[in-house]
Amino acid sequence: MSNTKNVMFKPHAVQTPDGFETAWQSPSNIALVKYWGKIGNQIPMNPSISMTLDTSVTRTAVRARKKDKPGSNVQLRYIFDGKENPDFQARVLALLRSLDDELAFLKDYALEIDSSNTFPHSAGIASSASSMSALALCLLSIENVAGKKKSNIHSFLKKASHIARLGSGSASRSVYGGFVLWGKSSVIPKSGDHFAIPLPVKIHPVFDGMRDSILVIDQGEKPVSSRSGHEKMDQHPFKKGRIMQAGQNLQLIAGALNTGNWEMFSRVVENEALTLHGLMMSSHPGFLLIQPNTLKAIEKISTFRNQTKTKITYTLDAGPNLHVLYPQEDSSLVQQFIHGELAAYCHNNYVIHDQIGRGPHPIS
Ligand code: PMV
Repeated sequence: MSNTKNVMFKPHAVQTPDGFETAWQSPSNIALVKYWGKIGNQIPMNPSISMTLDTSVTRTAVRARKKDKPGSNVQLRYIFDGKENPDFQARVLALLRSLDDELAFLKDYALEIDSSNTFPHSAGIASSASSMSALALCLLSIENVAGKKKSNIHSFLKKASHIARLGSGSASRSVYGGFVLWGKSSVIPKSGDHFAIPLPVKIHPVFDGMRDSILVIDQGEKPVSSRSGHEKMDQHPFKKGRIMQAGQNLQLIAGALNTGNWEMFSRVVENEALTLHGLMMSSHPGFLLIQPNTLKAIEKISTFRNQTKTKITYTLDAGPNLHVLYPQEDSSLVQQFIHGELAAYCHNNYVIHDQIGRGPHPIS
């Protein structure tokens, strides 16, 4: 069962002579049931389920220094990979400005944020999920220590998930390890649109240690951002059907994870990947993020599965890079196949091997 017991809890901010500091590491995640389309301020059009990754993480340190003029505007210096990054700085600044009522310390302290990823940009791993989750955990740790607030792990993570969501919807799920649900589902009590929860389902051992090998087919900048993809769902002709389908797929995946039904899991995960890209193609105007090598790799996977009966499936994020999912027990066979037959479709034969992870933790 995915739960919060694996996530170490401490607000973990320390007092310094002029303020506070903290650092967290948070993983990215890959959606199995996709969030695509939103309402208002980061409310998902439909609930989603993801698997948290293990080694694809963001490490973020936040230093808060008492301002000369307390009560003034949010002040921020954002360093990414050792350098100032104006794009990330602008995005984080907008988030912080929207949070200064919820996080009172932002009015009195200037922030310096230092962040880096263990995975390269545009590798098909959602860096906004890991970075916004790590940032939310840092901010909330400082808020708790600065405001002398007491909170238990559940309320701390619930609020961190809410803050992460405001930065990037999928980041709300990275606050937890294992399989995670975000969005109100009528069949899952305690689910909600404002925060994610660990998927409240006992997970069958076949999914323990599940692998995710990412085929990096293209590292180029996406021609259409996720933000504009979400917006196109507002007027999408298949919007109603998609909401219904996502609800059904959510129940099917939750059931498959519980009973160990790999075939059902695989069928639904692939249906979600193809639906996501089908929705992109059928938007107005339509757009394509998959590439010829994405399709070639998918065909190879289907043939390999038919011939060998190996448990192997795939999913896609909003981009051309393919996430190949398989159980731990089939690792050596599948990795042999990946390097023998699929790596040739990747940019410089680039494949990143990751697996299901236990969620974020504080770092020193
Ligand atoms: O969190 P955002 O706004 O970058 O959107 C993520 C959308 C998908 O990655 C395509 C699907 C998902 O649920 O993560």
